[in-house]
Amino acid sequence: MATQASQVMEPHRGQWKTHWGFLLAAIGSAIGLGSIWRFAYVCYENGGGAYLIPYFVALVTAGVPLMILEYGLGHRMRGSAPMSFAKVSPRWEWLGWWMVIFVMFGIVLYYAVVIAWCVCYLWFSVTLAWGADPNTFFFQTFLGVTAGPHVIGDIRSPILLALIVVWAVNWLIVFFGVEQGIEKANKVFMPLLIGLILVLVAWNLTLPGAQEGMRKFLKPDFSKLSEPKVWIDAYSQIFFTLSLGFGIMVAYASYLPRKADINSDAWITSLVDTAVSILAGLAVFGTLGYMAGRQGKPFAEVVQHGIGLAFVAYPQAISLLPAFQKLFGVLFFLTLTVAGIASAISILEAFSAAVMDKFHYPRKAVVTVLSVLGFLGGIIFATGGGLAWLDIVDHSLSHYGLFIACILQCALVGWIYGAHRLREHVNAVSAKPVGRFLDFSIRYLVPAVLVYLLCSDLLKDIRQPYGDYPWLAIVLIGKDWLILTLIAALFVAMRPWRKPLKDT
Ligand code: PFF
Repeated sequence: MATQASQVMEPHRGQWKTHWGFLLAAIGSAIGLGSIWRFAYVCYENGGGAYLIPYFVALVTAGVPLMILEYGLGHRMRGSAPMSFAKVSPRWEWLGWWMVIFVMFGIVLYYAVVIAWCVCYLWFSVTLAWGADPNTFFFQTFLGVTAGPHVIGDIRSPILLALIVVWAVNWLIVFFGVEQGIEKANKVFMPLLIGLILVLVAWNLTLPGAQEGMRKFLKPDFSKLSEPKVWIDAYSQIFFTLSLGFGIMVAYASYLPRKADINSDAWITSLVDTAVSILAGLAVFGTLGYMAGRQGKPFAEVVQHGIGLAFVAYPQAISLLPAFQKLFGVLFFLTLTVAGIASAISILEAFSAAVMDKFHYPRKAVVTVLSVLGFLGGIIFATGGGLAWLDIVDHSLSHYGLFIACILQCALVGWIYGAHRLREHVNAVSAKPVGRFLDFSIRYLVPAVLVYLLCSDLLKDIRQPYGDYPWLAIVLIGKDWLILTLIAALFVAMRPWRKPLKDT
Protein backbone atom coordinates (compact mmCIF):
# COMPACT_ATOMS: atom_id res chain seq x y z
CA MET A 1 0.00 0.00 0.00
CA ALA A 2 1.36 3.32 -1.04
CA THR A 3 0.50 5.25 2.06
CA GLN A 4 1.77 2.66 4.49
CA ALA A 5 4.94 2.55 2.53
CA SER A 6 5.75 6.13 3.23
CA GLN A 7 6.10 5.32 6.91
CA VAL A 8 9.20 3.24 6.24
CA MET A 9 12.07 5.55 7.10
CA GLU A 10 15.57 4.86 5.91
CA PRO A 11 17.93 5.69 8.77
CA HIS A 12 20.19 7.90 6.64
CA ARG A 13 17.33 10.05 5.38
CA GLY A 14 16.27 13.24 7.13
CA GLN A 15 12.83 14.72 7.48
CA TRP A 16 11.46 18.25 7.50
CA LYS A 17 10.76 19.46 10.98
CA THR A 18 7.74 21.46 9.90
CA HIS A 19 5.49 21.58 6.90
CA TRP A 20 6.40 25.24 6.55
CA GLY A 21 10.03 24.31 6.38
CA PHE A 22 9.38 22.11 3.37
CA LEU A 23 7.26 24.73 1.63
CA LEU A 24 9.79 27.49 2.19
CA ALA A 25 12.59 25.30 0.86
CA ALA A 26 10.61 24.36 -2.25
CA ILE A 27 9.63 27.98 -2.81
CA GLY A 28 13.29 28.92 -2.25
CA SER A 29 14.30 26.55 -5.00
CA ALA A 30 11.68 27.95 -7.35
CA ILE A 31 12.36 31.64 -6.78
CA GLY A 32 15.74 32.16 -8.32
CA LEU A 33 17.64 34.40 -10.64
CA GLY A 34 15.27 33.31 -13.40
CA SER A 35 12.23 34.59 -11.52
CA ILE A 36 13.80 37.95 -10.84
CA TRP A 37 15.35 39.06 -14.05
CA ARG A 38 13.90 36.75 -16.67
CA PHE A 39 10.20 36.85 -15.87
CA ALA A 40 9.91 40.64 -16.02
CA TYR A 41 11.55 40.99 -19.40
CA VAL A 42 9.76 38.06 -21.00
CA CYS A 43 6.47 39.43 -19.72
CA TYR A 44 7.17 42.92 -21.08
CA GLU A 45 8.26 41.56 -24.44
CA ASN A 46 5.30 39.23 -24.81
CA GLY A 47 2.33 41.51 -24.31
CA GLY A 48 2.76 42.75 -20.73
CA GLY A 49 -0.30 41.97 -18.62
CA ALA A 50 -1.72 39.87 -21.47
CA TYR A 51 1.25 37.50 -21.08
CA LEU A 52 -0.17 36.51 -17.71
CA ILE A 53 -2.85 34.57 -19.61
CA PRO A 54 -0.47 32.12 -21.34
CA TYR A 55 1.64 32.10 -18.20
CA PHE A 56 -1.28 30.96 -16.05
CA VAL A 57 -2.46 28.52 -18.70
CA ALA A 58 1.05 27.01 -18.70
CA LEU A 59 1.06 26.98 -14.91
CA VAL A 60 -2.28 25.18 -14.62
CA THR A 61 -1.86 22.76 -17.51
CA ALA A 62 1.81 21.86 -17.14
CA GLY A 63 3.49 23.47 -14.13
CA VAL A 64 1.19 22.28 -11.36
CA PRO A 65 0.65 18.76 -12.83
CA LEU A 66 4.40 18.23 -13.17
CA MET A 67 4.98 19.58 -9.68
CA ILE A 68 2.37 17.15 -8.32
CA LEU A 69 4.13 14.39 -10.26
CA GLU A 70 7.52 15.23 -8.74
CA TYR A 71 6.20 15.74 -5.20
CA GLY A 72 4.02 12.64 -5.46
CA LEU A 73 6.80 10.42 -6.80
CA GLY A 74 9.36 11.52 -4.22
CA HIS A 75 6.83 11.13 -1.44
CA ARG A 76 5.59 7.77 -2.63
CA MET A 77 9.04 6.28 -3.25
CA ARG A 78 10.83 8.01 -0.37
CA GLY A 79 13.86 8.65 -2.47
CA SER A 80 15.92 11.05 -4.55
CA ALA A 81 15.24 11.09 -8.30
CA PRO A 82 17.49 8.10 -9.17
CA MET A 83 16.11 6.02 -6.32
CA SER A 84 12.51 6.92 -7.10
CA PHE A 85 12.93 6.16 -10.79
CA ALA A 86 14.74 2.90 -10.02
CA LYS A 87 11.84 1.84 -7.81
CA VAL A 88 9.45 2.44 -10.68
CA SER A 89 11.68 0.50 -13.05
CA PRO A 90 15.38 -0.33 -12.54
CA ARG A 91 15.96 0.29 -16.24
CA TRP A 92 15.12 3.95 -15.74
CA GLU A 93 17.48 4.73 -12.92
CA TRP A 94 19.85 6.43 -15.34
CA LEU A 95 17.27 9.14 -16.04
CA GLY A 96 17.30 10.21 -12.41
CA TRP A 97 21.09 10.32 -12.46
CA TRP A 98 21.16 12.22 -15.70
CA MET A 99 18.86 14.89 -14.28
CA VAL A 100 20.82 15.44 -11.11
CA ILE A 101 24.20 15.17 -12.84
CA PHE A 102 23.53 17.69 -15.60
CA VAL A 103 21.97 20.09 -13.18
CA MET A 104 24.71 19.69 -10.55
CA PHE A 105 27.60 19.51 -13.00
CA GLY A 106 26.10 21.85 -15.53
CA ILE A 107 23.47 24.33 -14.52
CA VAL A 108 24.74 24.90 -10.99
CA LEU A 109 28.34 25.32 -12.05
CA TYR A 110 27.52 28.48 -13.98
CA TYR A 111 24.57 29.46 -11.80
CA ALA A 112 26.98 29.71 -8.85
CA VAL A 113 29.24 31.93 -10.96
CA VAL A 114 26.34 34.28 -11.67
CA ILE A 115 25.62 34.37 -7.92
CA ALA A 116 29.32 35.20 -7.50
CA TRP A 117 28.87 38.17 -9.86
CA CYS A 118 25.98 39.31 -7.65
CA VAL A 119 28.22 39.04 -4.58
CA CYS A 120 30.86 41.16 -6.35
CA TYR A 121 28.23 43.73 -7.32
CA LEU A 122 27.00 43.80 -3.75
CA TRP A 123 30.48 44.94 -2.89
CA PHE A 124 30.73 47.30 -5.87
CA SER A 125 27.47 48.96 -4.78
CA VAL A 126 29.21 50.29 -1.68
CA THR A 127 31.38 52.52 -3.87
CA LEU A 128 29.27 52.55 -7.05
CA ALA A 129 32.40 51.08 -8.63
CA TRP A 130 30.84 50.77 -12.09
CA GLY A 131 31.18 54.54 -12.55
CA ALA A 132 29.69 56.37 -15.50
CA ASP A 133 29.87 53.50 -17.97
CA PRO A 134 28.43 50.30 -16.42
CA ASN A 135 28.50 48.53 -19.79
CA THR A 136 32.25 48.78 -20.26
CA PHE A 137 32.76 48.14 -16.58
CA PHE A 138 30.78 44.90 -16.67
CA PHE A 139 32.03 43.38 -19.89
CA GLN A 140 35.60 44.66 -20.03
CA THR A 141 36.81 45.59 -16.55
CA PHE A 142 34.89 42.97 -14.58
CA LEU A 143 34.42 39.98 -16.89
CA GLY A 144 37.36 40.71 -19.19
CA VAL A 145 35.37 39.18 -22.05
CA THR A 146 37.54 37.54 -24.71
CA ALA A 147 36.96 37.17 -28.46
CA GLY A 148 34.86 34.01 -28.00
CA PRO A 149 34.56 30.66 -26.27
CA HIS A 150 37.78 29.43 -27.88
CA VAL A 151 39.84 32.09 -26.10
CA ILE A 152 39.69 31.18 -22.42
CA GLY A 153 41.63 34.21 -21.19
CA ASP A 154 42.60 34.63 -17.57
CA ILE A 155 40.75 33.70 -14.40
CA ARG A 156 39.05 36.78 -12.97
CA SER A 157 40.20 36.85 -9.38
CA PRO A 158 37.27 38.83 -7.83
CA ILE A 159 34.87 36.33 -9.38
CA LEU A 160 36.97 33.41 -8.18
CA LEU A 161 37.03 34.76 -4.63
CA ALA A 162 33.29 35.34 -4.64
CA LEU A 163 32.79 31.85 -6.06
CA ILE A 164 34.64 30.42 -3.06
CA VAL A 165 32.26 32.34 -0.80
CA VAL A 166 29.21 31.08 -2.68
CA TRP A 167 30.29 27.45 -2.50
CA ALA A 168 31.31 27.82 1.14
CA VAL A 169 27.80 29.05 1.97
CA ASN A 170 26.15 26.28 -0.09
CA TRP A 171 28.38 23.75 1.62
CA LEU A 172 27.69 25.06 5.10
CA ILE A 173 23.93 24.94 4.67
CA VAL A 174 23.64 21.51 3.08
CA PHE A 175 26.32 20.04 5.35
CA PHE A 176 23.98 20.32 8.34
CA GLY A 177 21.22 18.39 6.64
CA VAL A 178 17.61 18.85 5.78
CA GLU A 179 16.28 20.08 9.07
CA GLN A 180 19.26 21.82 10.67
CA GLY A 181 20.67 23.27 7.46
CA ILE A 182 18.25 23.70 4.54
CA GLU A 183 15.07 24.22 6.53
CA LYS A 184 16.67 26.70 8.95
CA ALA A 185 18.39 28.63 6.15
CA ASN A 186 15.18 28.98 4.14
CA LYS A 187 13.27 30.13 7.19
CA VAL A 188 15.62 33.11 7.16
CA PHE A 189 16.12 33.45 3.41
CA MET A 190 12.53 33.46 2.24
CA PRO A 191 11.12 36.13 4.59
CA LEU A 192 14.29 38.14 3.93
CA LEU A 193 13.90 37.79 0.17
CA ILE A 194 10.24 38.73 0.11
CA GLY A 195 10.91 41.61 2.55
CA LEU A 196 13.72 42.91 0.32
CA ILE A 197 11.55 42.79 -2.79
CA LEU A 198 8.73 44.60 -0.98
CA VAL A 199 11.15 47.30 0.17
CA LEU A 200 12.40 47.71 -3.40
CA VAL A 201 8.84 47.99 -4.76
CA ALA A 202 7.86 50.53 -2.07
CA TRP A 203 11.02 52.52 -2.71
CA ASN A 204 10.26 52.55 -6.41
CA LEU A 205 6.81 53.93 -5.79
CA THR A 206 8.46 57.09 -4.44
CA LEU A 207 10.52 57.61 -7.61
CA PRO A 208 9.15 59.84 -10.37
CA GLY A 209 8.53 57.89 -13.58
CA ALA A 210 8.69 54.52 -11.84
CA GLN A 211 4.97 53.98 -12.11
CA GLU A 212 5.25 54.56 -15.83
CA GLY A 213 7.80 51.72 -15.99
CA MET A 214 5.51 49.46 -13.97
CA ARG A 215 2.65 50.26 -16.30
CA LYS A 216 4.81 49.40 -19.31
CA PHE A 217 5.60 46.05 -17.68
CA LEU A 218 1.98 45.11 -17.13
CA LYS A 219 0.09 47.03 -19.85
CA PRO A 220 -1.79 44.31 -21.74
CA ASP A 221 -1.38 43.91 -25.46
CA PHE A 222 -3.85 41.15 -26.27
CA SER A 223 -2.92 41.07 -29.95
CA LYS A 224 0.32 39.30 -28.94
CA LEU A 225 -1.60 36.24 -27.79
CA SER A 226 -1.96 35.08 -31.37
CA GLU A 227 1.84 34.70 -31.70
CA PRO A 228 3.12 31.17 -30.96
CA LYS A 229 6.33 32.63 -29.49
CA VAL A 230 4.40 34.10 -26.58
CA TRP A 231 3.06 30.67 -25.65
CA ILE A 232 6.42 29.01 -26.17
CA ASP A 233 8.05 31.53 -23.85
CA ALA A 234 5.36 31.04 -21.23
CA TYR A 235 5.76 27.27 -21.15
CA SER A 236 9.56 27.34 -21.12
CA GLN A 237 9.57 29.89 -18.33
CA ILE A 238 7.27 27.70 -16.23
CA PHE A 239 9.56 24.64 -16.33
CA PHE A 240 12.68 26.55 -15.35
CA THR A 241 11.14 28.82 -12.77
CA LEU A 242 9.43 25.97 -10.94
CA SER A 243 12.68 23.93 -10.96
CA LEU A 244 10.91 21.07 -12.77
CA GLY A 245 12.97 18.31 -14.34
CA PHE A 246 15.87 19.05 -11.98
CA GLY A 247 15.19 16.15 -9.60
CA ILE A 248 14.96 18.73 -6.81
CA MET A 249 11.27 18.54 -5.98
CA VAL A 250 11.44 14.72 -5.97
CA ALA A 251 14.20 14.81 -3.35
CA TYR A 252 12.57 17.54 -1.25
CA ALA A 253 9.23 15.69 -1.17
CA SER A 254 10.97 12.48 -0.11
CA TYR A 255 11.60 14.09 3.28
CA LEU A 256 7.92 14.79 3.90
CA PRO A 257 6.04 12.87 6.57
CA ARG A 258 3.38 10.36 5.58
CA LYS A 259 0.53 12.82 5.74
CA ALA A 260 1.42 15.59 3.35
CA ASP A 261 -0.93 17.80 1.45
CA ILE A 262 0.83 17.39 -1.87
CA ASN A 263 -1.84 18.88 -4.10
CA SER A 264 -2.14 22.10 -2.12
CA ASP A 265 1.62 22.34 -1.72
CA ALA A 266 2.09 22.17 -5.48
CA TRP A 267 -0.36 25.05 -5.91
CA ILE A 268 1.15 27.11 -3.11
CA THR A 269 4.71 26.70 -4.42
CA SER A 270 3.69 27.67 -7.95
CA LEU A 271 1.53 30.63 -6.97
CA VAL A 272 4.00 32.11 -4.49
CA ASP A 273 6.75 31.85 -7.12
CA THR A 274 4.49 33.66 -9.60
CA ALA A 275 3.52 36.36 -7.11
CA VAL A 276 7.16 36.99 -6.23
CA SER A 277 8.12 37.09 -9.92
CA ILE A 278 5.47 39.74 -10.56
CA LEU A 279 6.56 41.78 -7.54
CA ALA A 280 10.19 41.57 -8.60
CA GLY A 281 9.12 42.68 -12.08
CA LEU A 282 7.46 45.75 -10.60
CA ALA A 283 10.66 46.61 -8.74
CA VAL A 284 12.86 46.10 -11.80
CA PHE A 285 10.63 47.92 -14.28
CA GLY A 286 9.90 50.72 -11.81
CA THR A 287 13.58 51.56 -11.59
CA LEU A 288 13.99 51.37 -15.36
CA GLY A 289 10.98 53.67 -15.78
CA TYR A 290 12.58 56.15 -13.43
CA MET A 291 15.81 55.98 -15.42
CA ALA A 292 14.01 56.52 -18.74
CA GLY A 293 12.36 59.62 -17.26
CA ARG A 294 15.64 60.98 -15.88
CA GLN A 295 17.47 60.46 -19.16
CA GLY A 296 14.55 61.64 -21.29
CA LYS A 297 14.79 58.42 -23.34
CA PRO A 298 11.98 56.20 -24.60
CA PHE A 299 11.40 53.26 -22.26
CA ALA A 300 12.25 50.69 -24.93
CA GLU A 301 15.77 52.11 -25.12
CA VAL A 302 16.64 51.60 -21.48
CA VAL A 303 15.20 48.13 -21.05
CA GLN A 304 17.49 45.11 -21.45
CA HIS A 305 17.12 41.45 -20.76
CA GLY A 306 18.97 38.87 -18.67
CA ILE A 307 22.37 39.74 -17.41
CA GLY A 308 22.35 43.07 -19.26
CA LEU A 309 19.37 44.09 -17.17
CA ALA A 310 20.89 43.18 -13.83
CA PHE A 311 24.49 44.17 -14.38
CA VAL A 312 24.30 47.06 -16.85
CA ALA A 313 20.88 48.74 -16.89
CA TYR A 314 20.23 48.40 -13.18
CA PRO A 315 23.60 49.74 -11.99
CA GLN A 316 23.13 52.66 -14.35
CA ALA A 317 19.73 53.37 -12.83
CA ILE A 318 21.12 53.02 -9.31
CA SER A 319 23.70 55.72 -10.03
CA LEU A 320 20.93 58.07 -11.12
CA LEU A 321 18.86 57.70 -7.93
CA PRO A 322 18.28 60.92 -6.00
CA ALA A 323 19.43 59.48 -2.64
CA PHE A 324 20.77 56.40 -0.88
CA GLN A 325 22.05 54.91 -4.13
CA LYS A 326 24.50 52.61 -2.38
CA LEU A 327 21.89 51.22 -0.05
CA PHE A 328 19.56 50.59 -2.98
CA GLY A 329 22.34 48.77 -4.84
CA VAL A 330 23.16 46.62 -1.82
CA LEU A 331 19.49 45.69 -1.36
CA PHE A 332 19.06 44.76 -5.02
CA PHE A 333 22.15 42.58 -5.26
CA LEU A 334 21.44 41.03 -1.88
CA THR A 335 18.02 40.05 -3.22
CA LEU A 336 19.62 38.32 -6.19
CA THR A 337 22.25 36.62 -4.05
CA VAL A 338 19.71 35.23 -1.58
CA ALA A 339 17.38 34.05 -4.36
CA GLY A 340 20.30 32.37 -6.12
CA ILE A 341 21.67 30.60 -3.05
CA ALA A 342 18.27 29.20 -2.02
CA SER A 343 18.07 27.63 -5.50
CA ALA A 344 21.67 26.42 -5.61
CA ILE A 345 21.41 24.59 -2.29
CA SER A 346 18.36 22.75 -3.53
CA ILE A 347 20.30 21.01 -6.27
CA LEU A 348 23.29 20.37 -4.06
CA GLU A 349 20.84 18.57 -1.78
CA ALA A 350 19.14 16.74 -4.67
CA PHE A 351 22.49 15.38 -5.83
CA SER A 352 23.79 14.60 -2.35
CA ALA A 353 20.56 12.74 -1.55
CA ALA A 354 21.02 10.65 -4.69
CA VAL A 355 24.59 9.67 -3.75
CA MET A 356 23.62 8.96 -0.14
CA ASP A 357 20.64 6.85 -1.21
CA LYS A 358 22.71 4.72 -3.52
CA PHE A 359 26.08 4.40 -1.81
CA HIS A 360 25.21 5.25 1.81
CA TYR A 361 28.23 7.53 2.12
CA PRO A 362 27.99 9.94 5.04
CA ARG A 363 26.30 13.28 4.28
CA LYS A 364 29.17 15.44 5.49
CA ALA A 365 31.70 13.75 3.21
CA VAL A 366 29.37 13.77 0.19
CA VAL A 367 28.47 17.43 0.55
CA THR A 368 32.08 18.46 1.10
CA VAL A 369 33.36 16.60 -1.96
CA LEU A 370 30.52 17.90 -4.12
CA SER A 371 31.03 21.49 -3.01
CA VAL A 372 34.73 21.32 -3.84
CA LEU A 373 33.98 19.75 -7.22
CA GLY A 374 31.26 22.33 -7.86
CA PHE A 375 33.70 25.11 -7.15
CA LEU A 376 36.45 23.60 -9.30
CA GLY A 377 34.06 22.92 -12.17
CA GLY A 378 32.80 26.50 -12.04
CA ILE A 379 36.25 28.03 -12.58
CA ILE A 380 35.93 27.79 -16.37
CA PHE A 381 32.96 30.16 -16.18
CA ALA A 382 34.99 32.61 -14.11
CA THR A 383 37.45 33.21 -16.97
CA GLY A 384 37.41 35.79 -19.75
CA GLY A 385 35.79 33.24 -22.06
CA GLY A 386 33.37 32.28 -19.28
CA LEU A 387 30.44 34.37 -20.45
CA ALA A 388 30.35 32.60 -23.83
CA TRP A 389 30.72 29.20 -22.16
CA LEU A 390 27.96 30.06 -19.76
CA ASP A 391 25.67 31.14 -22.54
CA ILE A 392 26.27 28.00 -24.62
CA VAL A 393 26.00 25.53 -21.73
CA ASP A 394 22.90 27.29 -20.40
CA HIS A 395 21.17 27.09 -23.76
CA SER A 396 22.01 23.45 -24.19
CA LEU A 397 21.06 22.31 -20.68
CA SER A 398 18.16 24.52 -19.73
CA HIS A 399 16.46 23.97 -23.07
CA TYR A 400 17.39 20.60 -24.52
CA GLY A 401 18.48 18.86 -21.33
CA LEU A 402 15.55 19.88 -19.17
CA PHE A 403 12.98 19.39 -21.90
CA ILE A 404 14.18 15.88 -22.76
CA ALA A 405 14.42 14.92 -19.08
CA CYS A 406 10.88 16.18 -18.42
CA ILE A 407 9.46 14.31 -21.42
CA LEU A 408 11.07 11.06 -20.26
CA GLN A 409 9.93 11.64 -16.70
CA CYS A 410 6.35 12.03 -17.91
CA ALA A 411 6.67 8.89 -20.02
CA LEU A 412 8.01 6.91 -17.08
CA VAL A 413 5.39 8.00 -14.57
CA GLY A 414 2.50 8.44 -16.99
CA TRP A 415 2.86 5.19 -18.88
CA ILE A 416 5.12 2.77 -17.03
CA TYR A 417 4.20 3.52 -13.44
CA GLY A 418 0.72 4.69 -14.36
CA ALA A 419 -0.54 8.25 -13.96
CA HIS A 420 -3.68 6.96 -12.22
CA ARG A 421 -1.57 5.22 -9.55
CA LEU A 422 0.29 8.40 -8.86
CA ARG A 423 -3.01 10.28 -8.69
CA GLU A 424 -4.41 7.72 -6.28
CA HIS A 425 -1.39 8.18 -4.05
CA VAL A 426 -1.48 11.98 -4.00
CA ASN A 427 -5.24 12.00 -3.48
CA ALA A 428 -4.93 9.57 -0.58
CA VAL A 429 -2.62 11.92 1.30
CA SER A 430 -3.88 15.35 0.17
CA ALA A 431 -6.75 17.37 1.59
CA LYS A 432 -8.32 18.04 -1.82
CA PRO A 433 -8.20 15.47 -4.62
CA VAL A 434 -7.04 16.20 -8.16
CA GLY A 435 -9.11 14.95 -11.06
CA ARG A 436 -8.31 12.87 -14.11
CA PHE A 437 -6.93 15.91 -15.83
CA LEU A 438 -3.67 15.08 -14.05
CA ASP A 439 -3.42 11.80 -15.99
CA PHE A 440 -4.16 13.56 -19.26
CA SER A 441 -1.61 16.24 -18.56
CA ILE A 442 1.18 13.83 -17.57
CA ARG A 443 0.54 11.34 -20.34
CA TYR A 444 -0.24 13.60 -23.26
CA LEU A 445 -0.29 17.32 -22.71
CA VAL A 446 3.05 18.03 -21.03
CA PRO A 447 5.02 15.67 -23.30
CA ALA A 448 3.32 17.15 -26.38
CA VAL A 449 4.10 20.70 -25.31
CA LEU A 450 7.69 19.76 -24.54
CA VAL A 451 8.19 17.98 -27.86
CA TYR A 452 6.87 21.10 -29.57
CA LEU A 453 9.24 23.33 -27.58
CA LEU A 454 12.13 21.02 -28.35
CA CYS A 455 11.42 20.98 -32.09
CA SER A 456 10.95 24.71 -32.27
CA ASP A 457 14.29 25.25 -30.49
CA LEU A 458 15.97 22.75 -32.76
CA LEU A 459 14.62 24.35 -35.92
CA LYS A 460 15.67 27.79 -34.74
CA ASP A 461 19.16 26.53 -33.91
CA ILE A 462 19.54 24.75 -37.23
CA ARG A 463 18.55 27.85 -39.15
CA GLN A 464 20.95 29.99 -37.21
CA PRO A 465 23.52 28.77 -34.67
CA TYR A 466 22.58 29.86 -31.18
CA GLY A 467 23.97 33.27 -30.26
CA ASP A 468 25.91 33.26 -33.54
CA TYR A 469 28.62 31.18 -31.89
CA PRO A 470 30.68 28.95 -34.19
CA TRP A 471 29.08 25.54 -34.74
CA LEU A 472 32.15 23.84 -33.39
CA ALA A 473 31.82 25.65 -30.05
CA ILE A 474 28.14 24.79 -29.80
CA VAL A 475 28.75 21.13 -30.48
CA LEU A 476 31.93 20.79 -28.44
CA ILE A 477 30.70 22.69 -25.42
CA GLY A 478 26.92 22.50 -25.44
CA LYS A 479 26.05 19.12 -26.95
CA ASP A 480 29.07 17.37 -25.49
CA TRP A 481 28.06 18.54 -22.06
CA LEU A 482 24.74 16.76 -22.49
CA ILE A 483 26.35 13.61 -23.85
CA LEU A 484 29.11 13.40 -21.24
CA THR A 485 26.62 13.80 -18.41
CA LEU A 486 24.50 11.09 -20.02
CA ILE A 487 27.48 8.71 -20.13
CA ALA A 488 28.26 9.51 -16.49
CA ALA A 489 24.61 8.83 -15.59
CA LEU A 490 24.63 5.45 -17.34
CA PHE A 491 27.86 4.54 -15.60
CA VAL A 492 26.58 5.40 -12.11
CA ALA A 493 23.27 3.68 -12.78
CA MET A 494 25.12 0.44 -13.57
CA ARG A 495 26.84 0.38 -10.17
CA PRO A 496 25.12 -1.80 -7.60
CA TRP A 497 23.04 -0.33 -4.76
CA ARG A 498 24.74 -0.59 -1.40
CA LYS A 499 21.50 -2.00 -0.01
CA PRO A 500 18.93 -3.66 -2.24
CA LEU A 501 16.04 -1.37 -3.08
CA LYS A 502 13.00 -2.01 -0.94
CA ASP A 503 9.68 -1.64 -2.61
CA THR A 504 7.91 1.03 -0.62
N1 PFF B 1 13.93 28.00 -10.30
C1 PFF B 1 15.29 28.41 -10.44
C2 PFF B 1 15.33 29.80 -11.06
O1 PFF B 1 14.30 30.27 -11.53
O2 PFF B 1 16.38 30.42 -11.08
C3 PFF B 1 15.99 27.42 -11.29
C4 PFF B 1 17.19 26.78 -10.65
C5 PFF B 1 18.43 26.99 -11.16
C6 PFF B 1 17.06 25.95 -9.55
C7 PFF B 1 19.53 26.44 -10.58
C8 PFF B 1 18.17 25.37 -8.98
C9 PFF B 1 19.38 25.64 -9.50
F1 PFF B 1 20.44 25.11 -8.91
